[in-house]
Amino acid sequence: MKIIRTLYDMTEFSVRQRDRNASVGFVPTMGALHEGHLSLVKRAVEENEVTVVSVFVNPIQFNNQEDFKKYPRTEEEDFKLLAAAGVDAVFAPTADEMYPEEEKACKEYFLGKASEVMEGKYRPGHFQGVARVLDILFRLVNPHRAYFGEKDFQQIAVVRNLVKSEGINVEIVACPIKRASDGLALSSRNSRLTEEQRSVAPEIYQTLKYSVEYSRDHSVQATHDTVVEHLDSIPGMSVEYFDIVDARTLAPIEEWDESDWIVGCITVYVGDVRLIDNIAYRIPN
Ligand code: PAF
Repeated sequence: MKIIRTLYDMTEFSVRQRDRNASVGFVPTMGALHEGHLSLVKRAVEENEVTVVSVFVNPIQFNNQEDFKKYPRTEEEDFKLLAAAGVDAVFAPTADEMYPEEEKACKEYFLGKASEVMEGKYRPGHFQGVARVLDILFRLVNPHRAYFGEKDFQQIAVVRNLVKSEGINVEIVACPIKRASDGLALSSRNSRLTEEQRSVAPEIYQTLKYSVEYSRDHSVQATHDTVVEHLDSIPGMSVEYFDIVDARTLAPIEEWDESDWIVGCITVYVGDVRLIDNIAYRIPN
């Protein structure tokens, strides 16, 4: 596995793959890799001749500096896992290499209404930061396909808007959430949970799952409230938002018959660790 640190070397690698007509799959990550990331990598390796993974904790997508500082970094271990998974190249630049001048970090993107709700509302500037780094990465890696996990459901909708508005020719592949055996969605942030927090965190998914049953004979509002009230009643847990939305537009819905594809997206603080998850209430046939 090739370890690439500079923009120049990344471009050179990609040009070589395109010259020899190899299909390129790309998995962008912020490292601290877990089975969720590895499921994306596995799929990329299966579906493409060449797989590139980026490992870069992108400073400009964190609206909270403390969160950025505490984000887990396990580069050596990550590289071992990626090599074992059959990755051809890992791109792991420094922040100075990615953003040599301040202006480079500051371009404004059109990301549509999907970027204004939920994470967009509670983490101002977050999606602009995600868009900036992905715009640079997509242009350097020049992949045929890029793989994203559905835990970040909103991110996928925003990335689809980004590639459309910027005219970037890449297929966005959405992959199912990977969960621990007790239901907790795998996340790099889980490693920051204390033993006690880790033992209550699965309640997020268990409550969402229960709410699907509950929703069959209750309104959208009642379903929303039962989830929030239950999770808020657990010591150490606090719901930041729980929005039940049309999965295509991410606009909030008021009635179950408003859309054939409805998801509930939640963000919960467990102590000071911010966890996100989502569940489908309606799925198109
Ligand atoms: O989902 C993530 O880990 C990040 O937002 C991404 C897509 C790697 C961009 O930094």
